[in-house]
Amino acid sequence: MNVIDICKLAPVIPVLTVEEPEVSVPLAKVLLEGGLPAIEVTLRTPKALEVIRAMSRIEGAVVGAGTLLSSKDVWSAKEAGAKFGVSPGCTPALLNAAIKAGLPLLPGVATASELMILLDQGVEVVKFFPAHLAGGAPYIKALQAPFPNICFCPTGGITAENAEEYLLLPNVVCVGGSWVVPRTTLEKRDWTTISELTAVAANLKTSQPKSTTP
Ligand code: 3PG
Repeated sequence: MNVIDICKLAPVIPVLTVEEPEVSVPLAKVLLEGGLPAIEVTLRTPKALEVIRAMSRIEGAVVGAGTLLSSKDVWSAKEAGAKFGVSPGCTPALLNAAIKAGLPLLPGVATASELMILLDQGVEVVKFFPAHLAGGAPYIKALQAPFPNICFCPTGGITAENAEEYLLLPNVVCVGGSWVVPRTTLEKRDWTTISELTAVAANLKTSQPKSTTP
């Protein structure tokens, strides 16, 4: 799948920071069954690659690696079975590694100039980060006129309460966020709460038609 198809699977890509690989399978199943098949596992914990490996074995789960900062991260993510990568910003080295590895990349931007650099490289779908602090939904709306062919996945400061403000913009394809799986809720293995948060996220209104997993 390419980045746009992955982004169109559901309104929200949950952003996970997982310390304990034991929760990988039950967590991915709760998200998948609740309607959020595209999952970002950030490379911010020592066991993140192990988590990606375990989640990737679940049929229907489209597991990506987040917080990619270097070429090495790209290759590690690919080797662990990640289907896509997400980065908070972007460098030519990161972009080239993703192309070489065949890893669809959702690169981060926060300004028009960063967007123009990626546009030159043929990128058409980007993460807008940190969305809330960088200008929020009005900023993304303002980027539509000069960049009519760019789609955004805003991430950073998105919540169940403000997500639709972003999702209803025609240039927003989905949003990302950690609110669906709060760290303390995960530590308690509170699958009921995570399942409820997942259902709410999966049913948010969006301007985009959905895609399906192959
Ligand atoms: C990310 O990695 O994209 C962000 O840390 C997620 O931001 P949030 O925790 O504000 O949802």
